[in-house]
Amino acid sequence: MKLKSSVCFDDVLLTPRYSDIKSRKEIDLSLNMENISYTPSIPIVSSPMDTITESEMALQMIRLGGIGIIHRYNTIEQQRLIVSDVCEALINENHASTSAVAAAIGVSGDYLDRATTLYDAGARILCVDIAHGHHILMKNALAELRGVFGNSVHIMAGNVATLQAFNDLADWGADSIRVGIGGGSICSTRIQTGHGMPTLQSVMNCSLSDRDAILIADGGIKTSGDIVKALAAGADMVMLGSLLSGTTETPGDILCDSSNGYSYTVTTTYDGLTTYAPEEDNNVTKYKSYRGMASKEAQVEWRGYQSSEEGVATTVPFKGPVKPIITSLVKGIKSGLSYSGVTTVRELQAIAEFTRQTYSGVSESSTHIFNVS
Ligand code: XMP
Repeated sequence: MKLKSSVCFDDVLLTPRYSDIKSRKEIDLSLNMENISYTPSIPIVSSPMDTITESEMALQMIRLGGIGIIHRYNTIEQQRLIVSDVCEALINENHASTSAVAAAIGVSGDYLDRATTLYDAGARILCVDIAHGHHILMKNALAELRGVFGNSVHIMAGNVATLQAFNDLADWGADSIRVGIGGGSICSTRIQTGHGMPTLQSVMNCSLSDRDAILIADGGIKTSGDIVKALAAGADMVMLGSLLSGTTETPGDILCDSSNGYSYTVTTTYDGLTTYAPEEDNNVTKYKSYRGMASKEAQVEWRGYQSSEEGVATTVPFKGPVKPIITSLVKGIKSGLSYSGVTTVRELQAIAEFTRQTYSGVSESSTHIFNVS
């Protein structure tokens, strides 16, 4: 038995450094991706979850300079149509980034048919999306995918938490790797299985790799400050679920509380909330669904039965369009780089110094005027 210690986002702060950066415009967050003619201008990826990324989110993420991974919890034909919608829309907009269209696949059953169909529909980033990525099924799938597609697709894979796993996935053929097990806001993997690793610690572990694979920090990112910490610890990009949840571009209906006397059209019911259509009505409190893909609700809906329950389903406040949220996150990230006196993520990683804070430090670091009575 071994015992190691680890750190979470809230356990650490970055040390501020001398800065001569006069404007956030001087800061460049772009990243060159291997095997693909796409350079994301922001280091943000939307998660392949059925309450986060379908065509609207994927399209908006590409327009904003990031990546949106279209989820796989549907039939091949349904996912193909979503990928086609995004590609057509991009072609109509004369958008140069059709190679940014990204879609998730699994590692068993008809995953190769799915991959081929999605490729034919225009996807050039395939995300091999499983909960425990350091697995023989991942190894076999990566070998088969490379055999079929060669270097014509960018293959993202995950999730992993250790350096060994990161290196193995890179050696098996992954171009980018999702790092983080059980840290997501809707995850219950650690409760259910006793396994996991704080996401920031996983990033620190995997950042020691000498492989070229892009490192994507995934799970538990709550603020732009967490994104800056993840990038400083070695991540090239971050994947977001909860921060994007509840936005207009996420799949699913806008809901409202049925007990408040409003008589909107009821088409379905969900946890005491009723479906509510008009986004623009400001008289009621609005919600959208957000759920873990291993939650009972998600599993029953897409595979017809429940296996191990490792996530939860909930509702989150409706937030409106995703663009202001991404814009605000990008401002925070750029401000973070300015506090470190650097203009690129690579420079940040080279000079970053973390301080571990005490419990009192965590309390001082959060806004605390409201706690004063
Ligand atoms: P955030 O914190 O951004 O996390 O909401 C999103 C990430 O959580 C992962 N994910 C899950 N993990 N059980 C888990 O243990 C689940 O049901 C589940 N669903 C999603 C995934 O990596 C996602 O990007």
